[in-house]
Amino acid sequence: MKTCNNPFQGRIAISGASGFIGSHIRQRFPNHIVLNRGLDREAIAKRIRDADVVINLAGAPIIRRWTSSYKKVLIRSRIETTRKIVAAMNMAGSQALLLSASAIGIYPDNIKCDESCREIDRGFLGDLACRWEAAAMEYRGPAAILRFGVILGPDGGALKMMLPPFRLGLGGPIGTGRNIVSWMDIEDLVAAVGFLIRERATGIFNMVSPYPVTNMEFTRTLSQLLRRPAILPVPVLLLKLVLGQGAEVLTGSKEVYPGKLLKEGFQFNYPKIEDSLKHLIEKG
Ligand SMILES: NC(=O)c1ccc[n+]([C@@H]2O[C@H](COP(=O)([O-])OP(=O)(O)OC[C@H]3O[C@@H](n4cnc5c(N)ncnc54)[C@H](OP(=O)(O)O)[C@@H]3O)[C@@H](O)[C@H]2O)c1
Repeated sequence: MKTCNNPFQGRIAISGASGFIGSHIRQRFPNHIVLNRGLDREAIAKRIRDADVVINLAGAPIIRRWTSSYKKVLIRSRIETTRKIVAAMNMAGSQALLLSASAIGIYPDNIKCDESCREIDRGFLGDLACRWEAAAMEYRGPAAILRFGVILGPDGGALKMMLPPFRLGLGGPIGTGRNIVSWMDIEDLVAAVGFLIRERATGIFNMVSPYPVTNMEFTRTLSQLLRRPAILPVPVLLLKLVLGQGAEVLTGSKEVYPGKLLKEGFQFNYPKIEDSLKHLIEKG
């Protein structure tokens, strides 16, 4: 097994740096450059001139009501931002490693998938992820696409939203609780990013733990660790009323495995949901 203990000394440029994942990556790599979303192509090209790695995380929040105008925001904030960064890197003749975000929403529901899976989700999420990845693949240097699962941390993403109701004993499974959640601990995510950088890995990587769980298992584990009941199911209909088509993010069932990370020799510190939630709750 390869280990990942030597800190990377090179320069890393990050877009979407102020977000949940970006903040954790910035802490891990103090020698970073922030790519603000207001920068134009020329300014980005200047900033990334000395970068060894560019990490592209920008994207407007997905758990919202998807009106037709918000869908445009979701698309623009990912695809146009990625296109601009890639154009700047190509213009600068960069050979930096590009790590560009995507999501496991690219895979269809109810199919076990690792990176060899050819099927694509036929809805908005699949289309968005495909176009996002295609924009990153325009880069003429080395690139890896990171398909994030549900990233768990106490200070952002899904867990931050779930903790307050669960702490009040008002949590519960979504619908029947049978939908599969493919998740990854934020600490493992940051370690995996460091690992991919050191290996100068290219290609597609599912950023998920090797043990996806059902929504019911997730709910039960979280409520047991918090010593609170979680008996009130969240009706799917209610989510659809509030979020419209955007409810798909919460009601979908993605069973995704990190085939490539495991093959490359990455070792997870928190492969199991109980260990992950336990340490995240202690931190949060
Ligand atoms: N967290 C997860 O579980 C998860 C799962 C699947 C995919 N992802 C994807 O991974 C990326 C990072 O996730 P995250 O949880 O860190 O997201 P986040 O906390 O919402 O942060 C995303 C960042 O994107 C930038 N941004 C927001 N609106 C934008 C807009 N309209 N145009 C351009 N940039 C905009 C902002 O950074 P600046 O203000 O610094 O520009 C923001 O901090 C996102 O693209 C997200 O869709 C995350």
